[in-house]
Amino acid sequence: MTSFQWATDANPLSLTPKFIVPDENKPIFTINPHSNSIPIIDMNEDNEALVQRIAKACEEFGFFQVINHGISMELCNDVLDVITNFFQLPYEEKAHLVSPNHMEDGKIFKYFIKDQETQEKISMWGEAFFHTWHPVHTSFTLSLPQNPPRYREIVGTYAKQIGTLNTQILSLISQGLGLHKDFLHQSLNPTYTAQANYYPPCPRPELTLGLRDHTDFNILTLLLQEEGVTGLQVLKDGKWINVNPSPNSLVINVGDQLQVLSNDRYKSVRHRAVTNVAKKRVSFAMFVGPNEHDCVSPISELVDENHPPLYRSYTFGEFIQEFRKQEGKTRLVKEVFKMCD
Ligand code: OGA
Ligand code: NI
Repeated sequence: MTSFQWATDANPLSLTPKFIVPDENKPIFTINPHSNSIPIIDMNEDNEALVQRIAKACEEFGFFQVINHGISMELCNDVLDVITNFFQLPYEEKAHLVSPNHMEDGKIFKYFIKDQETQEKISMWGEAFFHTWHPVHTSFTLSLPQNPPRYREIVGTYAKQIGTLNTQILSLISQGLGLHKDFLHQSLNPTYTAQANYYPPCPRPELTLGLRDHTDFNILTLLLQEEGVTGLQVLKDGKWINVNPSPNSLVINVGDQLQVLSNDRYKSVRHRAVTNVAKKRVSFAMFVGPNEHDCVSPISELVDENHPPLYRSYTFGEFIQEFRKQEGKTRLVKEVFKMCD
């Protein structure tokens, strides 16, 4: 067995008090394994069926899995393997990549919850590696690790293919909102960011979280997760449901900006990652968001007398600023831009 070390801590892995989350954040392991999971959508279906299914999934769950998405299983496994190899490097080889700042390009970050009583930082049982990406220009790979040796090449290849899938999904979502198929893709100047997550096995999963509950703040997330290990949970009607990875699937979810653009028709839903005793878990989230100068507001075609705009217009830069202000807390970022009635 490979012994894993945090990049953020030279000591051996142990469940010290700094990992124990406040009671209100503790995951409760009473999920019914037969409860409905998020919809699984077969991308081989015809355009009209896909438009309908995706629209329904975005309205009801804010989340869905796609199969037959066109990215080979071999490439997906290569991606998860290089990410695993990267996080399993010895402490000395990755400690210099750690940053105290969230979302710094090419840096490892450890998420935390700020205990509201003590203001102490409670660490998540996981680490995240951030970088930008681009669907066409592979120069972004220069900020990726050189060890493992194939990291840059594999993630570069994957980014191209995820870019194609993203265009396809945005087109289907645009059609589902009754808009021109290129609407979402063309109305913003997209920025692309990624987060690779590593969660080592945890002796007491009921006391910790791999990633606290949050909504994604971009437009869309395309997440690759390891098969055979469940960790992602999504809030549905006030209850947490597991997202069991379907074979050769990707998870896609609505981000805050798409909720605002769709004037709350589509939901940016809370989700989290829980840990488990037996296995490490790896995931790779590719985010597509607006540019910081882009103005975001409910799309005018979706607003009328019966559907007044629910958010004021803002720049994505303003949104990020508010997001950073709320670091460590239960985030209520889009709520700040909500119109008062
Ligand atoms: C994320 C995320 C979930 C997971 O990176 O935003 O929600 O399963 N990840 O790792
Ligand atoms: Ni997320």
